[in-house]
Amino acid sequence: MVETFRAIGYSLETAVADIIDNSISADAKNIWIDRFWRGGQSVITIKDDGHGMTSSETIQAMRPGSQNPNEERSEKDLGRFGLGLKTASFSQCRKVTVFSKRKDNNPAYWTWDLDYVAQNDTWDLLKWMPDDFSSALDDVESGTIVIWNDMDRVVRSTISENDLNAHEKFSRSMDRVKNHIAMTFHRFIEAKSVKLYWCGHEIEPWNPFCPTESKIQVMPEDHLNGGVTVRGYILPHKKNFSSEKAYLAAEGMNGWNAHQGFYIYRGKRLLLAGNWLGMFKQEDPYKLVRVQVDIPNTQDSEWKIDIKKSQAYPPSGCRDVLESYARKARRTGVEVYKHRGRILKQRAGTSFQPLWEDKRKDGKWSFVVNRNNELILRVREMAHENPDKAIETLLRIIEEAIPTKAVYANQVEMESTQKDAFEGFDMDALKSLAETLYETKINAGLSPEQARNEIKNIEPFNNFEELIDSL
Ligand SMILES: Nc1ncnc2c1ncn2[C@@H]1O[C@H](COP(=O)(O)OP(=O)(O)O)[C@@H](O)[C@H]1O
Ligand SMILES: [Mg+2]
Repeated sequence: MVETFRAIGYSLETAVADIIDNSISADAKNIWIDRFWRGGQSVITIKDDGHGMTSSETIQAMRPGSQNPNEERSEKDLGRFGLGLKTASFSQCRKVTVFSKRKDNNPAYWTWDLDYVAQNDTWDLLKWMPDDFSSALDDVESGTIVIWNDMDRVVRSTISENDLNAHEKFSRSMDRVKNHIAMTFHRFIEAKSVKLYWCGHEIEPWNPFCPTESKIQVMPEDHLNGGVTVRGYILPHKKNFSSEKAYLAAEGMNGWNAHQGFYIYRGKRLLLAGNWLGMFKQEDPYKLVRVQVDIPNTQDSEWKIDIKKSQAYPPSGCRDVLESYARKARRTGVEVYKHRGRILKQRAGTSFQPLWEDKRKDGKWSFVVNRNNELILRVREMAHENPDKAIETLLRIIEEAIPTKAVYANQVEMESTQKDAFEGFDMDALKSLAETLYETKINAGLSPEQARNEIKNIEPFNNFEELIDSL
């Protein structure tokens, strides 16, 4: 049973978040997360100033399945299965101590030691706690501290405190934990309903929707069955962020691509941070699209919230609505992505003149240079006076403005209907160019065979072997 608990599949960060959920449900105003590097004996603690527990409540809390999952919970309660404290802790460590104090009660502590349980083959809690934490609750009227010892899933027990590599690795995983907390609980931090401290420093919230960015596009909110609400956000193009720093911060701990998609919140607590729920793939052109979905905890069983609180599956009715909402958001998102941050709104009285146009013909798409762009017209005029300079200018302009993002976005969306190169091209023109080239080469003393070979090596003639062979 214990080994099963250990295998539920928490990551370190989702495990810590699950412990923090309990603190928030216990009305904590402050939550302190600390880590102590001691090699194989490293420790993580999560302490709160919530209402705490009496000794018998602590025992009940440490009982696997302490509450029936079908019981109704208060709207603010972030728990569900009566398992989190145990499963989250066991997923990371072999020894977990809960030390708690209710107002006007004596503090009490209890420890699960999995080695003891295994050796004695009995589910006995130990009346034990690590000495150095015995005064941990002195500065709060009521509260709880959860202490993870023997963290065999985080650091091997034999690691020495002086092992720099192991220390470095530990610090990196701790950074992830911190970032995950900043993201998972950002709405609590922003609402100032709770303060979270990471090794004594207050954690700043990470809001995926960048509410302080002025160029963000917000879609109208939609309401689904069961009190679920949806709202789409299209983040600004890189160039339209207020600063480079703000753009980098918006990316998120797992990178731009992984942070697109639905953000599912249950009771304001983030469960999923960017996921298309199997409806679409996460691809670069949609990286600016983030859709907030709020579900109340009364929807837990419909949405199949898992024990780790890191999965959710919308019921079929909601699914279709979400999918069509997301489609709209993605369409807007892809436009922002393609246009290098150009403002799509037309300026009064004039219309935008792109250099490249997304052309649709006979069900195929391709990109063509817009001959009517006034800059191109001007280059044409220039060609009368100075053809060399005009050609060079034209080439430069075209090179600089290649719509790479738009081409990529189209390829992702409509791979099969891209027009092939030279499809519908004037073959006579191409042939006469090839002939001129051929003649020049023959006149320069090459054999017909050599001339043809050289021409076949010149793009785009490499695609037209037959035409060259006929020369
Ligand atoms: N930090 C805490 N402060 C007060 N009570 C707690 C705390 N952590 C756990 N508890 C109590 O222990 C119970 C079991 O917690 P847990 O195993 O996480 O399951 P769940 O959160 O689903 O109820 C909680 O319902 C709560 O009553
Ligand atoms: Mg819980």
